Amino acid sequence: MYVCLCNALTDAQLRAAVAAGAARVKDLYAGCGCQAQCGCCTNTVLTILRQERPTGGGGS
Ligand code: FES
Repeated sequence: MYVCLCNALTDAQLRAAVAAGAARVKDLYAGCGCQAQCGCCTNTVLTILRQERPTGGGGS
């Protein structure tokens, strides 16, 4: 499923970026070789990040 239309990122790509070590939303975009543009997808991206790293939120 496409999550970020600006960058044509799918949920699978984002989950792979989390698995590769992305711990913050901006790291997720960077891990996919892009950056947030319109920002419409950031809530969904954050949800995926929290789902994949349930203990990773709030850390440094
Ligand atoms: S939909 Fe992701 S930055 Fe626009």
